[in-house]
Amino acid sequence: MVKLAPSILSADFSKLGDEVREVEKADADYIHIDVMDGQFVPNITMGPLVIEAIRPITSLVLDVHLMIEQPERYIEQFANAGADILSVHVEATKHLHRTIQLIHSFGVKAGVVLNPHTPIEAIKHVLQDVDLVLVMTVNPGFGGQSFISSTVSKIEELKEIKHQTKLDFEIEVDGGVSDKTANLCVEAGAEVLVAGSAVFGKQDRSAAIKLIRSSITE
Ligand code: DX5
Ligand code: ZN
Repeated sequence: MVKLAPSILSADFSKLGDEVREVEKADADYIHIDVMDGQFVPNITMGPLVIEAIRPITSLVLDVHLMIEQPERYIEQFANAGADILSVHVEATKHLHRTIQLIHSFGVKAGVVLNPHTPIEAIKHVLQDVDLVLVMTVNPGFGGQSFISSTVSKIEELKEIKHQTKLDFEIEVDGGVSDKTANLCVEAGAEVLVAGSAVFGKQDRSAAIKLIRSSITE
């Protein structure tokens, strides 16, 4: 069963608690939290305080996507705030393996993120160490962008590697995922779908989640 991870980046921040409760009721699996620092990506969003605020109101997995330079500086804070998964971009940290170890040292799952241009080769030697690989299907920084279809072959490639190596990392995709693109991703091998505007951009969040799920034929 494919997991759905609504991204609160597109939520109404004036009632964030209600937004989280609503998607939990609609059977979301993860809450995807986009942390941006204005350096690694042009946008600035939220930090550990927001995660700390959400933690007590939901039992869903808090899937924290760190789009920040040198994420190793903040791993402890995000872990203490209640993150369940912390994902870092290949290009943001000099010692990727050490950063993965650091995340695990706090009992948190570690993910690694590939930008649309980043080849799988860049993470080949840490695949056995991660719990999740996040394939960006847009360039990171903003919600509501169009799905980049050339990333689909990367999802397929990753699925094949997972199959051959028998490793058990999850394959997650992020960006431009909607009822139009979800099935394409799942057929290619995606196991977790992040969706921001396709969920929180719709009046009825629950209907939006149902629509995405019903578009998946698997
Ligand atoms: C983009 C973020 C995404 C974003 C996705 O940098 O990583 O998680 O919220 O938004 P949509 O689903 O609208 O493309
Ligand atoms: Zn994200």
